[in-house]
Amino acid sequence: MAIKEIFVFVACFAMLCGFGDSVDIQCDYGTYSWTAVGDVYLCFLQNTLNIKSRESAVINSVNGSHSSGKSNADVTCFWSWGSSRVIEYFPRNLDNIFTNLKMIGIRHGRLKKIQQSDLRPFTKLVYLNLYQNDIEFLEDGLFAYNPELKFVSLSYNKIIHIGFQVFDNLNKLTWLWLCGNTCINMDADNNQTAVKEVISQAKSKCLDYPEIDKDLQKLENSLLYVNSESLSIFDQNLQNLQSRFQNSTISQYLPLKDRFQAIKNWRPKNIWTKKDYLKLLMIGCGVFWCLVYVVLIVAFLRWSKDDDKKFTTSRKEPVLQRTEPLSKRTEPVLQRTEPLSKRTEPVLQRTEPLLQRKEPLLQRSEPLLQRIEPHAQRTEPHLQRTEPLLQRTEPVLQRTEPLLQRTEPLLQRTGPVLQRTEPLLQRTEPHLQRTEPHLQRTEPVLQRTEPHLQRTEPLLQRTEPHLQRTEPHLQRIEPLL
Ligand SMILES: *[C@@H]1O[C@H](CO)[C@@H](O)[C@H](O)[C@H]1NC(C)=O
Ligand SMILES: *[C@@H]1O[C@H](CO)[C@@H](O)[C@H](O)[C@H]1NC(C)=O
Ligand SMILES: *[C@@H]1O[C@H](CO)[C@@H](O)[C@H](O)[C@H]1NC(C)=O
Repeated sequence: MAIKEIFVFVACFAMLCGFGDSVDIQCDYGTYSWTAVGDVYLCFLQNTLNIKSRESAVINSVNGSHSSGKSNADVTCFWSWGSSRVIEYFPRNLDNIFTNLKMIGIRHGRLKKIQQSDLRPFTKLVYLNLYQNDIEFLEDGLFAYNPELKFVSLSYNKIIHIGFQVFDNLNKLTWLWLCGNTCINMDADNNQTAVKEVISQAKSKCLDYPEIDKDLQKLENSLLYVNSESLSIFDQNLQNLQSRFQNSTISQYLPLKDRFQAIKNWRPKNIWTKKDYLKLLMIGCGVFWCLVYVVLIVAFLRWSKDDDKKFTTSRKEPVLQRTEPLSKRTEPVLQRTEPLSKRTEPVLQRTEPLLQRKEPLLQRSEPLLQRIEPHAQRTEPHLQRTEPLLQRTEPVLQRTEPLLQRTEPLLQRTGPVLQRTEPLLQRTEPHLQRTEPHLQRTEPVLQRTEPHLQRTEPLLQRTEPHLQRTEPHLQRIEPLL
């Protein structure tokens, strides 16, 4: 049920849309004769239209009474005329209704745009009249599928730009009406020479700004890759572009001209030859392999260190964080020490040769030291034994020292006395030598008198008390005397 309802709804919606988008046209059919085309059976549009979007420009059906024996297939001309109709977009599906159109005329239709796709179905088209509409651009290749065209009227539109090759494939073109446009105001009426003149004027006056802009952009981009092979193509494009606007007097084209000149000036400096590409390729390869090696080496180093890291990094990290402020504080110190280190450097350089000279001496002294060593070992116990003795003599020495200091001035004072007595001694010496024999001679005499003296001594001792007794008598006699 539900599916059915949805289906019905969708179908109705589609139908409504269909009705809304498409238009029915009403034709008045008749036969006419035209200079360019000859006799035609035409549909002269009768109803008013209001086509304001591309979607609503689809012609759904046509009604009207054909001449006897004629059908839609006999219609060779579709003709719309009148300012009451609004046909902003070229009618679609017209080719399916009238399959043999040679002639299309939409005059006073307010047509805004005409595209190659609009005209593509009408390959037998001989006559196109779009007189008095609002067309501004004629794109390149607009008539690419209409080579039979003899008559083209675009008079009294608002054409600013005409693609460079719009009319180039129309070899049969004999009428070209372009008067009453913004960039061109010229007709060629049944005169192919005049048509060529009009086309030439269109090329110089109605250059297609966006087209040229696009082509310039392409050229600018291609400059990056121009090599010696593509250079000729590049130059051809350059020349084409030049001819497209060199005769143009429209001020809008001046920036394009400047850009073109820039490309032209730039051109000779940027030719990439095969050699250049080869060089670039080799450099690229070199760099690539370098990178590959570096990556491999780094990968290998990381792989080999991976195990060590696993254990150390976790422990190292907090330590590193703690050392960081220290390293910041040591930095100014290092900066201050730097000039000092610079000053020490020449000194070090000067000491270096001295050190070098020392080295052989050290080498030579080494065996001597080895020979001395056993002796030293033997003297060592002796030294150990003398050590306590030395320790004991030390206080003694300390005590004798002040004594020595005190005797010193005495010695100094006796020095001159000794010097003075010396000559006296020398002088007494011969006297002494001379008295010596006398003394030797008196000695035995003395030895001989000694016993006499010893014998007199007791006599003396015996006389002494007599003397002591005589003394007071003497003292009494003295005053009498
Ligand atoms: C064409 O259609 C209109 C209405 O849309 C109608 O009035 C007219 O009779 C039709 N003409 C013919 C010839 O069928
Ligand atoms: C065709 O046009 C050219 C240039 O405008 C003119 O010189 C020539 O006479 C014309 N030919 C005819 C037959 O009118
Ligand atoms: C531009 O003008 C010169 C002569 O002024 C002419 O020879 C040349 O063909 C013209 N080029 C174009 C593209 O119209």
